[in-house]
Amino acid sequence: MEQEYIILLQKILVVLFSVTLFWKIIKHICGLLVIEKEPVTVLVTGAAGQIGYALLPMIARGVMLGPDQPVIIHMLDIEPAAEALNGVKMELIDAAFPLLKDVVATTDVVEACQGVNIAVMVGGFPRKEGMERKDVMSKNVSIYKAQASALEQHAAPDCKVLVVANPANTNALILKEFAPSIPEKNITCLTRLDHNRALGQISEKLNVHVSDVWNVIIWGNHSSTQYPDINHATVKTTNGEKSVRDAIANDNWLNTEFITTVQQRGATIIKARKLSSALSAASAACDHIRDWVLGTPKGTWVSMGVYSDGSYGIQPGIMYSFPVTCEKGQWSIVNGLKIDELSREKMDATAKELMDEKTLAYSCLIDD
Ligand SMILES: NC(=O)c1ccc[n+]([C@@H]2O[C@H](COP(=O)([O-])OP(=O)(O)OC[C@H]3O[C@@H](n4cnc5c(N)ncnc54)[C@H](O)[C@@H]3O)[C@@H](O)[C@H]2O)c1
Repeated sequence: MEQEYIILLQKILVVLFSVTLFWKIIKHICGLLVIEKEPVTVLVTGAAGQIGYALLPMIARGVMLGPDQPVIIHMLDIEPAAEALNGVKMELIDAAFPLLKDVVATTDVVEACQGVNIAVMVGGFPRKEGMERKDVMSKNVSIYKAQASALEQHAAPDCKVLVVANPANTNALILKEFAPSIPEKNITCLTRLDHNRALGQISEKLNVHVSDVWNVIIWGNHSSTQYPDINHATVKTTNGEKSVRDAIANDNWLNTEFITTVQQRGATIIKARKLSSALSAASAACDHIRDWVLGTPKGTWVSMGVYSDGSYGIQPGIMYSFPVTCEKGQWSIVNGLKIDELSREKMDATAKELMDEKTLAYSCLIDD
């Protein structure tokens, strides 16, 4: 009897061993069959600056394109920043990011743009004390005109472009004008930071988590004339979903202090930090590209600066921030939202500022 038990036990052990071995072999074969995605090449201009320093590790960690998407990073800056740029490259190597397949640090715009799939344009000329608006515009027009040509000639044909550097909307417009073979739908500018700031203000006011608020809108320019609009926004509360206006139940705050807080947030950060927003700008740039490439969640939209097609009566010919949904790498403006009188006024005011900026930028081109 005892002998039979021992034989049975031996048989069970053999079966267990065989199953484990078989499972290990299958897993190994599957592991060999998992095909790694092709790397995506991402260009960051102004990479030695403070947004660059916050943005680059996010890209290399998969925050922008997903945790299974390998990346190659191209970093561009100007000659005086070459040494600092090389320091950033050393740090990226030292961080040993598994997704980071290669890093190029260069001051040569042609090398930087070579084969680029996504271009995040952070480099630009800042306004210095005593400088006229036109002088700053003129510097940035020259930069964006030159970089547009380099992107057009050397980037991948379906390259997606996000302009961050200010004046972001007008820099993006100049880039579009001087890169006519890049589809206009591939050129955008960043207003997602303003969008996120609006979500942040509403969630603070209602004491809810920021992910429980959605569908705010930033209309227009990334400047103090932008219009943060909550008329179509929703919040999830313990009593179900509500419109943000009903949940806050304070039209006076929504129509005045909320709007100016979002419009002036950049200046408030500069006052506090003695430097402009960098980590929130970098995070917003990742949000912008991620949603554009991977899509917006169903039922939600985000704000993106895009070339106006005349939607909501905004004249074509300017880069204007609209509510958009994204699917399969394409954005579309959310149409049919009801616009009240106050919103109309504010949407037109920010459009007018963009028309004035465009006129100024074009006058710089004539002087060029
Ligand atoms: N759209 C937004 O929401 C938003 C938010 C924050 C900041 N910004 C803008 O982003 C830009 C960058 O901000 P930052 O804080 O990183 O500034 P920064 O001064 O720290 O960095 C800018 C970098 O750009 C480089 N640069 C200048 N000219 C260049 C050129 N021709 N080619 C390549 N690089 C060049 C500079 O050498 C510098 O390293 C600024 O224009 C800022 O106003 C936009």
